Amino acid sequence: MRNFTEANLTAEVVARMGKDCDPRLREVMSSLIRHMHAFVRETRLTPEEWLKGIQFLTETGKWCDDKRQEFILLSDTMGVSMLVDAIANPTAGNTTESTVLGPFFRENPPIIKNGGDISPGIAGKRVDVDCRVLSEDGKPIEGAQIDCWQASPEGGYDSQIGDGEAHNLRGRLKSDASGRFWFETVLPACYPIPDDGPVGDVLRKMGRHPWRPGHLHFWVQAPGHRQVITHLFVRGDKYLDSDVVFGVKESLIRDFGDQDRGKLTYDFRLKKAA
Ligand code: BEZ
Ligand code: FE
Repeated sequence: MRNFTEANLTAEVVARMGKDCDPRLREVMSSLIRHMHAFVRETRLTPEEWLKGIQFLTETGKWCDDKRQEFILLSDTMGVSMLVDAIANPTAGNTTESTVLGPFFRENPPIIKNGGDISPGIAGKRVDVDCRVLSEDGKPIEGAQIDCWQASPEGGYDSQIGDGEAHNLRGRLKSDASGRFWFETVLPACYPIPDDGPVGDVLRKMGRHPWRPGHLHFWVQAPGHRQVITHLFVRGDKYLDSDVVFGVKESLIRDFGDQDRGKLTYDFRLKKAA
């Protein structure tokens, strides 16, 4: 077939996939091609605009290395990460809701004993965190692994402080026989996502701010249960309703205490593994 037109090109591109193409890949690629073509038709995209888009994606790739993932940041800020998460982890009963992983999770965090401090040497309002890990029927889960990480009261993660090598403001804990784990930390501040690259540029051009409300990240894993990747957000933060990555859920907003020394409590409830 030759002489393709606006009217028949899309169908031909989809039809070119070979017989041996994996069925799921065929489904995803057919849909992607149809949606990309529909976008071009709907916007009447000009060659100059198309080239700008290519240059933007090229620049986004150039910003990626083992410390910076600009494509995930693009997905996060365009709401795609939270949409994928909403489909993979629909809200169910009273189990803990999930939210974005974000770029600041690190492997091999410090191991923290219950009662320990995950933010040694960091100035700021101290907060006692006292949580439990429960199954959906309310039974305590012993030996759950909890990774926790957060920004400082100045709004910076450890990887953004100094040479970025030291691990701080993070830790790995285990729940005790009553499902409880507890530690001391500092109040996490709101912060702008890294906005010195192409994603920051496009946010500014779209008239959007780069801020996330203050939060503590948790990744909770326990045998026989579905893991949950989530945050607890600081009640009262001014960015709760305009989080740049659309990650806030009402059930995850918590009081961190208004006294000199704060207190955060929460019960994580995990779904049973399928
Ligand atoms: C974070 O909360 O650490 C985060 C999430 C998505 C994009 C940037 C930062
Ligand atoms: Fe964060």
